[in-house]
Amino acid sequence: MNYKRLLAISLILTYTILLNGQNINIIPKPKLISVKKGEFALNRKTIISFNDPQLKFLANYTSSTIRSLNNMELTVKKQSGTLPSISTINLILDGKANTGKEGYQLNVNTSSITIKGTTSQGVFYGVQSLLQLIPYSGDSKIQALEIKDEPRFGWRGLLLDVSRHFFTIEEVKRLIDQMVVYKFNLLHLHLTDDQGWRIEIKKLPELTKVGAWRVPRTGLWWDRQPPEEGEAATYGGFYTQEQLKDLVRYASDRYVNILPEIEAPGHGLAAIASYPYLSSSKNKFKVNPGSKFYTIDDNTFCAGKESTFEFLDIVLTEVADLFPFEYIHIGGDECYKGFWKKCEECQKRIKDNGLKDENELQSYFIKRLEKILQQKGKKLMGWDEILEGGLAPNATVMSWRGMDGGIAAAKASHHVVMSPNNYAYLDLYQGDPALEPPTYSLLRLNTVYSFEPVPAGIDSSFILGGQGNLWSESVPTFRHAEYMFWPRSFALAEVLWTPKEGKNWNDFINRTEKQLDRLSHADINYSSSFYDAIINPSKDENGNLKIRLETEIEGMEIYYTFDNTYPDHHSPKYKKGEILSIPKDADTFRVITYRGGKPSGRIITVPLSDLAKRLN
Ligand code: ACM
Repeated sequence: MNYKRLLAISLILTYTILLNGQNINIIPKPKLISVKKGEFALNRKTIISFNDPQLKFLANYTSSTIRSLNNMELTVKKQSGTLPSISTINLILDGKANTGKEGYQLNVNTSSITIKGTTSQGVFYGVQSLLQLIPYSGDSKIQALEIKDEPRFGWRGLLLDVSRHFFTIEEVKRLIDQMVVYKFNLLHLHLTDDQGWRIEIKKLPELTKVGAWRVPRTGLWWDRQPPEEGEAATYGGFYTQEQLKDLVRYASDRYVNILPEIEAPGHGLAAIASYPYLSSSKNKFKVNPGSKFYTIDDNTFCAGKESTFEFLDIVLTEVADLFPFEYIHIGGDECYKGFWKKCEECQKRIKDNGLKDENELQSYFIKRLEKILQQKGKKLMGWDEILEGGLAPNATVMSWRGMDGGIAAAKASHHVVMSPNNYAYLDLYQGDPALEPPTYSLLRLNTVYSFEPVPAGIDSSFILGGQGNLWSESVPTFRHAEYMFWPRSFALAEVLWTPKEGKNWNDFINRTEKQLDRLSHADINYSSSFYDAIINPSKDENGNLKIRLETEIEGMEIYYTFDNTYPDHHSPKYKKGEILSIPKDADTFRVITYRGGKPSGRIITVPLSDLAKRLN
């Protein structure tokens, strides 16, 4: 190869890499991107044009999102006659576009932008990609390119637990606004649990008079004081049916299905506090405020009485009328069966139906719910415990205790949504526990990114997709919900949308940093924990504490101290792979990360006695 050709090729390569690096920061990464020469200059004269009435909402949505990004007020026009070619964003529904149900093509050239899809949902995702390419301030040049894109999975969900803490309809809408940017299409609302019933059921008013409210408490979940005698239940709230209809419309305009979850037979304390006849013990219990109660208060619906199923039929009838989505989630997890063992009616049910034990009684319970749902034209989904005692004939399993339940269900030819706690539980803390608001255990951004929803040897056609779950025991505000969702839900979005072979951690982190700038601009909260050091304690053969350090992302320097001073770039610098010994009498370890000569992560301070405890 001659020198000139080599130079030309390397210039082209550099140009492409630079362009990719500078401008194409879309999350989830599209299936195919080719960068072209030139730029489209977005300006106040740019017109948003659409060719089909189905795209009218989307055209207005595009205009208002651009306005909130960079204050440009763009005119929206129904396309008439030939395509206008000067400074136009063309949204085109084209039955022959061959982009699949959710796919799209996006073409940016120097004079126009065209987004085409077979469905309006596909065009919507094309718009989301385009919006991520528009700078949020100053210069509004968009790199010329062509994108062909479609998702890997049809089920791309996030769960919000509105029971443990209540979030207003406006907050739920804000979450929908945020999640659709990253092409999520399903919001799972965990509407009922021991700590609050959040949905108006017209025929059962006590559910929201009593079940939606608990005594006010803050502080660590499970350590809170139980309700006192006569204490007013003032914390809580619920959604009226009118509010939910409005929410469903809002979600549907943005191509989000809402999956309602009504928990049974366990996690039923808020309902039981409202209607005590529902439990086996029939005692009067209070809605739980985050104190320990499990096995003491009876939070399980009685499986022996017909009145339990009559109650659930009324609830599910109203739920089915409110939510058009084909599935209803009935929970089924963590059901304490101790009260069933002592309940005459439950034991009679076991005997009359030739059931082996309480596990089979739970299976009987779920199968009855499936029949109720089928009468209403709905499909049943439940947590993986619904496998115990036998799966209901057409049930879909949401696998949360790892992937095993999902694997067993798929092997039995049932559909599965993978939301394993070790990859997709967004309620877990995401950095060093010395810095993070406490929850149950650790789930870092890079672990989420490594999630693979289709286990080896499993027929992928049974895996509908996956979901990230934000349980809200330790999430008292929406601001904190944002901190827990982002950026880990970027990783989930990419796992669920991008072809497996298109994933790349370093590239993802580059794009994540650009996206986080956009979240800052929009005043959306997020976690920066992935910049912090990872402290790995261990013990040597003599029982002495040792420390190894690493970082989630590349290109970081790590500085540390044992001498009770704050570390900076003058402190000892950690060498990759080094095993640190503890100096005599040291009691505290501190560490900080730097990047490009500047502090990057937070200082982590841990008493060495705490580090040693982490090994237990
Ligand atoms: C669950 O996390 N108990 C479904």
